[in-house]
Amino acid sequence: MDRQQEQALIGESPVFLEILEHVSRVAQLNRPVLVVGERGTGKELIAARIHYLSPRWDRPFVKLNCAALAESLLETELFGHEAGSFTGATRRRLGRFELANEGSLFLDELANTSDRVQEKVLRVIEYGELERVGGNDTIRTDVRIIGATNEDLPGLAEQGKFRPDLLDRLAFDVITLPPLRKRREDIIPLAEHFAVKMSGELGLDLFQGFSESARGLLRDYYWPGNVRELKNVVERAVYSSFGNDEPTSGISFDPFDSPWRPGTQTKTGDSGGSMPGEAYDFKEYIQEFEVTLLKSALQTCRFNQKKTADFLGMTYHQLRGYLRKYDLTDQEN
Ligand SMILES: Nc1ncnc2c1ncn2[C@@H]1O[C@H](COP(=O)(O)OP(=O)(O)O)[C@@H](O)[C@H]1O
Ligand SMILES: [Mg+2]
Repeated sequence: MDRQQEQALIGESPVFLEILEHVSRVAQLNRPVLVVGERGTGKELIAARIHYLSPRWDRPFVKLNCAALAESLLETELFGHEAGSFTGATRRRLGRFELANEGSLFLDELANTSDRVQEKVLRVIEYGELERVGGNDTIRTDVRIIGATNEDLPGLAEQGKFRPDLLDRLAFDVITLPPLRKRREDIIPLAEHFAVKMSGELGLDLFQGFSESARGLLRDYYWPGNVRELKNVVERAVYSSFGNDEPTSGISFDPFDSPWRPGTQTKTGDSGGSMPGEAYDFKEYIQEFEVTLLKSALQTCRFNQKKTADFLGMTYHQLRGYLRKYDLTDQEN
């Protein structure tokens, strides 16, 4: 890996600039560091910046997502294994700690690790020592750990779900990234950055810019998925307006949005009318909704109950059950 892998970090809000300063400071220090923030806030990008600004910049920057692996697999990924340590382990394999020797190891979603793994990580931090799975030799490594989490580690430690001693060591310095909605000045610069890149990917020389209404939508949205979500929304918008010479105006926040979306019924669909504004009785509301659907289906199927049952994806007997329940059996009149 080299310096070119470093991606541009976009942002001009005061809080973001402060974070960049913090990053430059912490980068120089040969200590663990923890990056905290909601998903999509740029934790991985910040971790890379820490590494490439550090004296270790020309050594390996190794990453591992701890949540993606089951405990035993995570253990061998981190610490490696010896040949014959388990069925299928035909050769010795080096773990990420050894691969990252003299460099940095980015441990993403650290909160989700088991106590056993946490204990071994702590030992590497404290003594620079580890054993491969199935091995007896103690191996020395010199690795700087950059951890990331979107969870509240002190809270988890209090509940006994995260080792407090590991937390103390990891949290020598903590960088907390604010959600995008708390630094709205960054939205348009980020959006333009992603739009220009996407235009380039589509082979366009020029990005036509966003319309005023599109900019307003982008600035006002809540951005639960933060920068990652913004990137997706912008790329989709540029791609959808591909081929017309006007500023990009169509912004769709939800690519699944469709009247044909198959339901888990969690959406407050428009088919059922609008949700009541004040407190309401849940059951009663559902029943009214069912009656509305049944009546309209019967009407659509000209009160043919066999057809209505098919239309609603239920059996004739199920439909009869509903009609009796709601006293709708004489609907044809
Ligand atoms: N300040 C930023 N400037 C440019 N791109 C960013 C910035 N913050 C995040 N991104 C981009 O947003 C996406 C999500 O960032 P990532 O670091 O993976 O977030 P996290 O690890 O917090 O979930 C990535 O594509 C990343 O390149
Ligand atoms: Mg991430």
